[in-house]
Formats: sequence, structure tokens, C-alpha cells
Amino acid sequence: MTKNNFELVKKSWATISKIDFEIVIGAFYIRLFQITPELRPMFKSGSMTQQSIKLGCMLSYVISKFESIEDLLTEIKALAERHTKYGVTDEHYKAVGEALIWTLEQGLGEYWNEELHIAWKDFYETLSAQMIAAQHNSVTDIYKIDYK
Ligand code: HEM
Repeated sequence: MTKNNFELVKKSWATISKIDFEIVIGAFYIRLFQITPELRPMFKSGSMTQQSIKLGCMLSYVISKFESIEDLLTEIKALAERHTKYGVTDEHYKAVGEALIWTLEQGLGEYWNEELHIAWKDFYETLSAQMIAAQHNSVTDIYKIDYK
């Protein structure tokens, strides 16, 4: 991903992170289950509040380390392996990407624009490509996902 896109992601994430994760990522899960209700039964731990906080914290962590993604690869691989156990497959990443972009658009409101859309798409494609490759046990394969 480009440096400019990454700077846009970092800045806009800092803005959105001012809203509690249980609220903003909670909205993400509402959107995810609205567009793909079949994913809801995969979340078995019970507390979607806790899940929202975990996902928000993970995104903050990944964004804070993203400039040296090589250092993140071990963690991304472990995260991806857990996702294989949760039953996550390649196609699921598309819905998550769509729900994430939707949430950012809602959360950032008047600050949202096409530049941010492109930047977040770039970020999510890079991250999800690594997750998918790790789920396939080949971190060097880059899978591109096409979503709006
Ligand atoms: C870049 C993409 C993603 C990131 C960063 C991410 C992050 C996380 C994190 C931090 C957790 C908490 C548990 C753990 O660390 O193992 C989690 C759990 C989970 N994620 Fe993801 N995730 C991603 C994509 C997806 C996708 C595409 C799906 C498909 C539906 C998914 C489904 C789940 C499920 C089912 C759980 C377990 C929930 C439970 O225990 O009830 N995730 N994810």
C-alpha cells in the first residue's frame, strides 16, 4: 500500500477511535450481520461487546505497526490460523471489508471522501491478503479481493 494511503488510514483511524469500540465496532457487526446474516452463528463466544473491543484493539495494533508489516507477519499468521478454526473462508473477507468501509463512512460522516475510501480499500486488501495467504499456509501468495 502507498505511504499516502497509509497516512490517511492512520489519521482517520485516530479520529474514529475517539468513539468507544463497543459503539463503532458494534455498528460494524450490525452492518456485517445485516448484509451476511449467515455469518452470525460463527460468533459463539457470546459477548459481541467483548468481540467489538478485541477487533478494535487489533486494528489499532495492526495500524500502529503496519509500516513494518514484516514484524507483524507472525501475529497475522497466528490470527489467521485461529480464523481457520473459527470456520472463516476466503469469501468471508469480502463481507467484512464491505462492512468495515460502511462503518468508517458512517463514523467519519462529513470527513469521509473518495480518497479515504481508496486508502481504506488499499489497507484492507493488504491486510486481508496476508490473512488469506496465511490461512493457505503461504504468506508469499497475495490474494486480491474485489469489493466496493
Ligand atoms: C482483517 C481481517 C480480520 C481481523 C483483523 C480480525 C480480527 C479478529 C480478532 C482480534 C478476533 C478476537 C479473537 C482472536 O484474536 O482470535 C477475531 C475473532 C473472530 N473473527 Fe475475525 N478478524 C478478521 C476477519 C474476519 C473474517 C473475514 C471473519 C468471517 C466471518 C471473522 C470472524 C471471526 C470469528 C467467527 C471470530 C471468533 C468470535 C468468537 O469467538 O465468538 N473475522 N477476529
